Amino acid sequence: MYIAEETRYEKMEYRQSGRSGLKLPLLSLGLWQNFGDYDPISNQREILRGAFDMGITHFDLANNYGGPAGAAEKNFGRIFKEDFRPYRDEMIISSKAGYHMWEGPYGEWGSRKSIIASCDQSLKRMGLDYVDIFYHHRPDPDTPLEETAEALMQLVRQGKALYVGISNYNGEDTKKMAEIMRRKEAPFIIHQMRYNMFSRELLEDDLAPVLEEEGLGAITFSPLAQGLLTNRYLHGIPEDSRAHRKEIPFLSEEQVTPTLQKINALQEIAEARDQTLAQMALAWNLRQKAVTSVLVGASRLSQLQESVRMMDNLEFSAEEVAKIEQVLK
Ligand SMILES: NC(=O)c1ccc[n+]([C@@H]2O[C@H](COP(=O)([O-])OP(=O)(O)OC[C@H]3O[C@@H](n4cnc5c(N)ncnc54)[C@H](OP(=O)(O)O)[C@@H]3O)[C@@H](O)[C@H]2O)c1
Repeated sequence: MYIAEETRYEKMEYRQSGRSGLKLPLLSLGLWQNFGDYDPISNQREILRGAFDMGITHFDLANNYGGPAGAAEKNFGRIFKEDFRPYRDEMIISSKAGYHMWEGPYGEWGSRKSIIASCDQSLKRMGLDYVDIFYHHRPDPDTPLEETAEALMQLVRQGKALYVGISNYNGEDTKKMAEIMRRKEAPFIIHQMRYNMFSRELLEDDLAPVLEEEGLGAITFSPLAQGLLTNRYLHGIPEDSRAHRKEIPFLSEEQVTPTLQKINALQEIAEARDQTLAQMALAWNLRQKAVTSVLVGASRLSQLQESVRMMDNLEFSAEEVAKIEQVLK
C-alpha cells in the first residue's frame, strides 16, 4: 500500500491560477508520453508516487494520450485506484478533448456532442466521478465558440468538471472565449500553451496581455522542448530518448542536431548559475508573470527529482538574461 510522504507540502511552492482561487504547484506532471501501453506500469507508478511525494499535486491528461490513444487515462486510472484514491481531494486531475479520438465527425474538435461524449469516456477510463479541470484542447474552425463554451459549462453544471480551460488558442480567440465564459459565469481559469526557450512567440507576443487582462493563469507545456533543453542530447542521441523512440513521432533525430550549438551555449550559462540546463529552462518559464505552473513530462523519476530543484534558483540577473537572449537570437 502506498502512503504519501509526510513532508510533501514542505517542499513545493504553489501559485494561484490567474485571479482564481485554485493553486497549482510550480511543477506539474503531464502524462502525454511515457504512460502508454508500451511503458512499464511499474515505472509509471514510481513516477506518479515520487511526484506526489514531492508536492506535485497536478496531473495532466487528455483523451488521446498514450499510445494507443486512451491508454494514459486507463493506466492512470489503474494506479489511481490502487494507490491514490485516499488522496483524491489533494489532487488536481485534468483532461481534454479536441484532437482526434474516435472515428466519424464527433471524435474530435469542439462540438457539444464531441466534448460531452469525450469527457464521459475519460471519466470512465480513469474511474473518476469528476475532473478538476477540463480543457478544450485546440480551437475548432467550424464550431462557434459559444457552443464549445456551453459544452464546457454543461460539464461544470453536471459536476463532471470543477474548472474549465482552453489550450492552443491565440490571443484573439482567448479574449472572445473569456467574454462568453464571463456571461455564463463559468469557472474559466486557465490556458495551456507551448512555451519554452525555443518557442516563445505565442505567450510573449500574443497571449500574455490577454491573460493578464482576463485574469487567466498560464500552464506551459513542453517547457523543456521535449527534452532538448536538458543534458539528454549533449553527447549524442540515447536509445531510450524521445528523439530515438520510433513509437513517439513528435520529436525526431533530425530535430536534435540543429539545436546542439544553442544547447551547449545554454548549458554553460546554466552551469554558471549552479543549475542544470533543465532547471534553468524551467526557471526561465516561471519568470513570465502569467505562468502559474510548468507542465513537464518525465520518462523516469530521477528527471523529476532533478527538475524540481529548479526552485533553488528562480531569479535571473540582467546579465544572465542578456546572455540567454544572445544565444536564443
Ligand atoms: N495542450 C497540448 O496541446 C499539449 C501538447 C503537448 C504536451 N502537453 C502537456 O505537457 C506535458 C509535458 O510535455 P512534454 O513531455 O513535451 O514536456 P517536456 O518537459 O518539454 O519534455 C519531457 C521530456 O524531457 C525529458 N526530460 C524531462 N526532464 C528531464 C531532466 N530533468 N533531464 C533530462 N531530460 C529530461 C524526458 O525525455 P526522455 O523521454 O527522452 O527521457 C521527458 O520525456 C504533456 O505530458 C502534456 O500533459 C500538452
